[in-house]
Amino acid sequence: MENIILEGIETRGILKTKRKKERGRDKCSKFLKLLKTKHEEEPEIRPRRAKIIGVFSCKGGVGKTTTVCNIAAYLTQKLKKRVLAVDANLTAPNLGLHFGELEPKVTIHDVLSGKIPIQEAVVRRHGIDAIFGSIAFREEVHLVDLRAHLEPLRSKYHVIILDSAPGLGPEVMAAMRAADEIITVTNPLLPTVASTIKTFGAAERHKVPVMGVVVNKVRGEPFELSTANIKKALGWPVLTSIPEDAKVREATASGIPVVMYAPSSPGARRFKQLSEKIHQFLFS
Ligand SMILES: Nc1ncnc2c1ncn2[C@@H]1O[C@H](COP(=O)(O)OP(=O)(O)OP(=O)(O)O)[C@@H](O)[C@H]1O
Ligand SMILES: [Mg+2]
Repeated sequence: MENIILEGIETRGILKTKRKKERGRDKCSKFLKLLKTKHEEEPEIRPRRAKIIGVFSCKGGVGKTTTVCNIAAYLTQKLKKRVLAVDANLTAPNLGLHFGELEPKVTIHDVLSGKIPIQEAVVRRHGIDAIFGSIAFREEVHLVDLRAHLEPLRSKYHVIILDSAPGLGPEVMAAMRAADEIITVTNPLLPTVASTIKTFGAAERHKVPVMGVVVNKVRGEPFELSTANIKKALGWPVLTSIPEDAKVREATASGIPVVMYAPSSPGARRFKQLSEKIHQFLFS
């Protein structure tokens, strides 16, 4: 009996000391929390899982690859996100060219043909992570399970952005199915806007959410459709309209995204604005 009472007192004593220590630790961790910025705390609370954003258009040459490389550059360098740009245009890949890479040594083609794991295909150009495509690759490869291929990289990035081929062929549809959200790029001309409706139709059929439309190469000519009319015709928000700007072409020819090549040019400013919007959409 005496032993039990003594044990009880002893246990209570240990418990008291334990509680005191815990209270001390609580105070200490509260104090440390106050010292930490929100940014420092974030990784513990939210494990990283990249959103896959696909950039599409029915017509070729409207500025998909230019959009992909500028969003990737600005999100990485200014908004400090971990971003991976991936060339999902297997037939005529040119994401590499927009980063000044003519003959990439490792490519998405090597991944899809089973030659290398996807982690080994990632290269860094101008500080931006990317997986390029091969213009010279001769074997037939398919994008069918691109989403599954990208899975091991999702924990390493905040955003994976896919550049796609034009049209609505099997390659494009495979890239669309790999995406969590899509952006379409159009020009302000009636035939291009009309074909953009088809891209939206495909997204709806495959239940891929649409973030909005980028209206690129705006010249301000009287026969161009206004942003309001494009919005009305497509039924999706216009994320930004980007002027036709010689600096953008010059940047592409130099293999540097225009947001880095000529950051204060009108085109670069709009690409920055677009990236800010995407950042807000994904992270706020
Ligand atoms: N706002 C702009 N002002 C001027 N030139 C632009 C603009 N946007 C893109 N370009 C130029 O248009 C050309 C085609 O752009 P890009 O390669 O991005 O098109 P794309 O849609 O990816 O083409 P494809 O369908 O063939 O893949 C490039 O030379 C690029 O520099
Ligand atoms: Mg392209």
